[in-house]
Amino acid sequence: MIGRLNHVAIAVPDLAAASAQYANILGAKVGAPQDEPDHGVTVVFIDLPNTKIELLYPLGEASPIRGFLDRNPAGGIHHICYEVSDILAARDQMIASGARVLGSDDPKIGAHGNPVIFLHPKDFNGCLIELEQV
Ligand code: CO
Repeated sequence: MIGRLNHVAIAVPDLAAASAQYANILGAKVGAPQDEPDHGVTVVFIDLPNTKIELLYPLGEASPIRGFLDRNPAGGIHHICYEVSDILAARDQMIASGARVLGSDDPKIGAHGNPVIFLHPKDFNGCLIELEQV
């Protein structure tokens, strides 16, 4: 069911430093920071030839990644995102298989303007998974 790897999201303690590292040391194509108030994050998108990296930094007090950075002060991989062609069919299949969808079962609009759901990391080997309809 899942298709391409859409992105890997990395929570970072210093967005400017992480962006500069990817641009200057790793030589990647790094975008400008974008505030995503609906998701409680500021995001820097990095385009790679075969996928994307998203650097995530907390935005606002209720940011969902603040707790992650408290537990992982040096930063770390926060989630990976797989593409699906039909988010509602994917959601129904996940629920039928016993996997937990985080928050409401209804897809939300993600950082790329497409519907997404998140799956509980305890159901997937400790890895938070985002499914995005593309
Ligand atoms: Co994501």
